[in-house]
Amino acid sequence: MTDTDWLADVGCGTGRVTAHLHGLGLPAFGVDLSPGMIAMARRDHPGIRFDVGSMTDLDLADSSVTGLVAWFSIIHVPDEEVRAAFHRFRRVLRPEGALLLGFFVGDDSTLRTEGYGGHPMRVYVHRRPVERIAEWLEQAGFRVEVSMLHHPSETVTGGMLIARPRRG
Ligand SMILES: C[S@@+](CC[C@H](N)C(=O)[O-])C[C@H]1O[C@@H](n2cnc3c(N)ncnc32)[C@H](O)[C@@H]1O
Repeated sequence: MTDTDWLADVGCGTGRVTAHLHGLGLPAFGVDLSPGMIAMARRDHPGIRFDVGSMTDLDLADSSVTGLVAWFSIIHVPDEEVRAAFHRFRRVLRPEGALLLGFFVGDDSTLRTEGYGGHPMRVYVHRRPVERIAEWLEQAGFRVEVSMLHHPSETVTGGMLIARPRRG
C-alpha cells in the first residue's frame, strides 16, 4: 500500500487522458505497450510518469492504485487476455477504488493495416457487447455501477463502464 491515491491510465497512448487527469490535480501515471507511444507521451507531457508495460502483465503491486482507466485500449486485446487483465485490474485496485473502461460496442473484430497517419501496421480492433464486458468484470470480482453508451457518429457506438471491486 502507498499513501498516494494513484490513478493508472492503462493503454495511455500519447498520454492525453493521463495529462487531463494530471491537470485536474490527480496523481495519474500512464502505461502503454508501445515504446513509441510512451516516448511521445514523455515528450509531450514532461513531469508525468509514463511506463512501458502491458495490461496483461501489469507491473503494479496489489491494492496500489485508487483508480484505473483503460480508455479504448482493451479494443486491441484478445478476449482471453482481456479477461485475465480484468482479474489483474481487480488485484491492483484498492478495495474502495474504481475502474473506468471505454470500448467500442459491437460484436466483431477487424484487422487494421494502416494507421491514422497512413503508415502500415497490423492491429486488431475488437468490438464487444456491453453485456459481455460487464459479465467478464463480474467474473473478475467487480460490481458494475455505471453503464453508458455514446454515439460519436451514426456507425460508431462507444461503451463506458464504471466498476468497483465487489466486497466479500
Ligand atoms: C486507441 S489507443 C487509445 C489511447 C489512449 N487511451 C487515448 O484514449 O488516447 C489504444 C492504446 O492501447 C495500447 N495497447 C494495446 N494493447 C495494449 C496492452 N496489452 N497493454 C497496454 N496498452 C496496450 C496501444 O499501444 C494504444 O496506445
